[in-house]
Amino acid sequence: MGIEEIKLKDLNPDEFVTKQIEKLSLTVTDGVAINALSGGVDSSVVTILGHRALGERLKTYFIENGLMRVGEAQYVVSLFEKLDVPVKIVDAKEEFFAALKGITDPEEKREAITQTFYKNIFGRLVKESGAKYLLQGTNYTDVEETIAGVKRQHNILEQLGIDTQAQFGYKVIEPVIQLRKSGVRVIGEVLGLPGEIYNRPPFPGPALAARVIGEVTAERIEIVRKATHIVENILSETSAFQYLAILHEDKVTGMRDGKRDYGMQVEVRCWESTDAVTGSPTRLPYDLLDKLAERITTEIPGVVSVTYNITKKPPSTIEAV
Ligand code: XMP
Repeated sequence: MGIEEIKLKDLNPDEFVTKQIEKLSLTVTDGVAINALSGGVDSSVVTILGHRALGERLKTYFIENGLMRVGEAQYVVSLFEKLDVPVKIVDAKEEFFAALKGITDPEEKREAITQTFYKNIFGRLVKESGAKYLLQGTNYTDVEETIAGVKRQHNILEQLGIDTQAQFGYKVIEPVIQLRKSGVRVIGEVLGLPGEIYNRPPFPGPALAARVIGEVTAERIEIVRKATHIVENILSETSAFQYLAILHEDKVTGMRDGKRDYGMQVEVRCWESTDAVTGSPTRLPYDLLDKLAERITTEIPGVVSVTYNITKKPPSTIEAV
């Protein structure tokens, strides 16, 4: 696919950092560049590499798309403040919900999110700032899955033949594209990011929209956001690769206080994996599963069923959308 993977065993972290900083300085020779920081490992590493190379010439934004976890914007901004990286929050909630309105097909959802990010938001930010470049944290697995046709990862453009300069008005720079997640984590540690960032479980670019089956609305995102909060709270004590909650479209008959309650279903997934290419469900102790069901059904009104996914990837994928 034209990109040479750097395997973990062949990665020399210091050499990689020096090379990427040099490359960034040689590419963005004058003017500013922008990057969007989501708080995930990949975009955090790119933010630090970018600031080391370009200093104040890199403008970093957190896009509040309304699809993120509880308290995420404040968490990311204050964490990077401590690292002397100023992050500006861009409120784009309404734009994302408008773009997702009425869409139920998974790939159409992904396309709507990609267009909203790249055409509308980043297009506007480069115009406002005069930037010619967007730095982003695409990794090797993102490219591989998109090219294989598994699912269109939100950040894949050039590898699908999209000319970002012609379509959106800027060029994209991807410093960690040769690395898998495990390699990006090593670079995060070498760059001095806190462990809570470089060890953070992966979170998809389309955010909680990747975990809502059927139409994505602000109300349905709120349900999955609450469920995610509970799942992360309970399963952070495991050493699993990734854990998540999914809101199903179909309702089922349940009961509460002796009466019929036709309510929502939440599915929990917890994965063992090293690179997200394959995965298997964690054999969670039953008392943890019990705790998940108890908290989700009591803390989220309207949820009457909690299931645990026991399927491997493949044929499952990690996210539902
Ligand atoms: P799937 O669901 O394809 O996920 O098995 C593999 C890994 O990628 C994450 N993921 C994404 N990451 N943009 C991203 O940056 C995306 O569009 C995207 N979709 C899935 C997912 O959380 C898992 O770690």
